[in-house]
Amino acid sequence: MKIDAVTIFPEYFAPLSLSLIGKAQESGLLEVAIHDLRSFTSDNHHSVDDTPYGGGAGMVMKPEIWGQALDPLMKPETDLIILTPAGRRFNQKMAHTLSQSEHLVFACGRYEGIDARVGQHYAAQGFRVHEVSIGDYVLGGGEVASLVMIEAITRLLPGVLGNPDSLIEESHVEEGFLEYPNYTKPAIWRDLSVPDILLSGNHGAIATWRGEQAQRRAQEQS
Ligand code: ADE
Repeated sequence: MKIDAVTIFPEYFAPLSLSLIGKAQESGLLEVAIHDLRSFTSDNHHSVDDTPYGGGAGMVMKPEIWGQALDPLMKPETDLIILTPAGRRFNQKMAHTLSQSEHLVFACGRYEGIDARVGQHYAAQGFRVHEVSIGDYVLGGGEVASLVMIEAITRLLPGVLGNPDSLIEESHVEEGFLEYPNYTKPAIWRDLSVPDILLSGNHGAIATWRGEQAQRRAQEQS
């Protein structure tokens, strides 16, 4: 998979060289390129935003600059992801769908967001355009949201996780069930014991207990 991200803060993406995503790049499973939006400006101030038509607080990111940055990245196989708190909510199902893509382009808006015509333009050109939010809160920009999505998506790529069984075990997250509680050694820590059933060696009973626990957690949080 190839990932491009366009941002005015390329340094935000430094963590992508760490851990599983860093290793996936080293082994060639994943290629990541970060592009500085300001490098596509032609004025002395390198300005990327302007006041909104119709008035109101804040600034809006200019469409021409985004066009310059995105045009060379867009290919028939590209999924363009525009991060915005007004977008469709990101979830595990979307992560699976996007993990099938060959090429993701993340457009990270700041301020009051990117001029609405940018997404409109690429959709009209026949590209797959997704306006995505990672949750019902407003971040300072799309950079952190992109990192969240990139981590959730790339760990689903074949070969990225050390133990692919983890993906099978967590599949129920998609069906609305949260994970069951996990324990490791020691069996007693600060007077708290691991549930007896987990020490029983009875795999059928353990599976049933875990299912019940996961369901209970899901009910408690809904
Ligand atoms: N930009 C600002 N807030 C955001 C959010 N919640 N999700 C995605 N992008 C954002």
